[in-house]
Amino acid sequence: MEVPAKVYQSLAQQIIDDYGIVEGRCLDVGTGRGMMGLELGKRSSLQLYLLDVDGTVLSQAEKNCRLQMLADRTVVIKAAVEELPFIDNYFDLVVSRGSVFFWDDISLGLKEIFRVLKSAGVAFVGGGTSRYMTENEREEFFRWARPLHRKYRKDWDKISSVDNLQDQLLQAGIKGYQIHTGFGTWIEIQK
Ligand SMILES: C[S@@+](CC[C@H](N)C(=O)[O-])C[C@H]1O[C@@H](n2cnc3c(N)ncnc32)[C@H](O)[C@@H]1O
Repeated sequence: MEVPAKVYQSLAQQIIDDYGIVEGRCLDVGTGRGMMGLELGKRSSLQLYLLDVDGTVLSQAEKNCRLQMLADRTVVIKAAVEELPFIDNYFDLVVSRGSVFFWDDISLGLKEIFRVLKSAGVAFVGGGTSRYMTENEREEFFRWARPLHRKYRKDWDKISSVDNLQDQLLQAGIKGYQIHTGFGTWIEIQK
């Protein structure tokens, strides 16, 4: 089973509704097959930058851009979040779903995201679902996802805890943030 399409669709709608960012540049960090960024692209005029360290998943992301007719405003980039190949203050919106808990260096990754974010830009980084999904849908998702997460990362519960994320944000020197829980664990950064 894969992450259901509804997770990406409802999360993209939530992000658009909450922040109203529909123009400019959007970076999707740890994009995988590109689903999160592409759902945002369908609901906006954003220029999409889909970034991942894994070249194999990026070829699927490229294919999905073409299938979803978004290739003309999408760039696919192989790089690590810890060393983002962009100038400072470049992106209006940075999103990252289901990736932060796998980064080699979470505080450095967050620091890099903050660096490339424009002032007045928003970053939404974390894992899980959206608050637009019903409680039943969220529970069903976590019943499936939680054992997989714990299998991939033995220290999953510690890594994904609010305490750990607060520590990482402190190390990164980021002060303007909120952590949302209830539909996953999400860091919202407003620069
Ligand atoms: C569980 S997948 C999530 C993919 C996608 N965001 C989604 O929600 O379907 C995690 C992704 O993060 C990527 N990743 C892991 N460490 C990374 C890093 N340091 N920099 C960039 N991407 C990374 C992996 O290659 C993988 O594609």
